[in-house]
Amino acid sequence: MTTLLHLDASARRAAISRELSAAFADVWRAENPDGAYLYRDLAAEPVPFIDEAWTELCDAVLALPATDLDRLAELVRTPAQAAAWAIVEPLLGEVLAADVILIGTPMYNYSIPAVLKAWLDQVTFPRMSLGHRRFVVTTARGGAYSPGAPKAAYDYQERYLRDFFAGHFAVQDSVFVNAELANSRMDPNLAHLRTAHDESYAAALQAVRDLAKEY
Ligand SMILES: Cc1cc2nc3c(=O)[nH]c(=O)nc-3n(C[C@H](O)[C@H](O)[C@H](O)COP(=O)(O)O)c2cc1C
Repeated sequence: MTTLLHLDASARRAAISRELSAAFADVWRAENPDGAYLYRDLAAEPVPFIDEAWTELCDAVLALPATDLDRLAELVRTPAQAAAWAIVEPLLGEVLAADVILIGTPMYNYSIPAVLKAWLDQVTFPRMSLGHRRFVVTTARGGAYSPGAPKAAYDYQERYLRDFFAGHFAVQDSVFVNAELANSRMDPNLAHLRTAHDESYAAALQAVRDLAKEY
């Protein structure tokens, strides 16, 4: 059975990144009626930051010759580590169960929201591989960061996640669908960019719907 893990990270309920991730999930679920669907709203129910006991578990993983994600529970030695593991276990279990991991995320301060970083910190262990899993990320940004845009070099959102998935998860299969210039919806000084935003949003919506049929 194929499984989709869907995460959202925007502090906004009426978020563009949520609309895009939901559009992907809707099509995916229609195309995969027997598939399993897991959903987690990282903004509504943030996962805790890692604590010292978590770092002890991480150090114990590093001390082993190789990382076996199915045996992390055996490394727990103290009550504090057991409490840390109790947070990690369901989060990591969802990741390991998933074939496709869908993340809807806004750009905050050129990067990702802290709630998404907190989730990444919880589920990431040294030398782990999520090799065969596929990542789809739907983003929204107030400005424009596509190649050629004046601020393209400031995109630490897509670049960070893409590099992280490749470097830490050994996942090369990550696709990003970005809706740009979202601030033109609110900022009168950016009203001249509203049409470009509408086009970017419409193209992103179509792209995620098309993409979902291939997954
Ligand atoms: C805390 C915060 C920081 C933001 N930082 C940036 C930024 O660095 N660059 C940018 O282009 N837009 C920035 N924005 C605008 C958001 O990216 C924009 O509102 C986008 O639509 C958010 O995605 P969402 O609609 O999925 O919530 C920021 C918005 C917030 C609330």
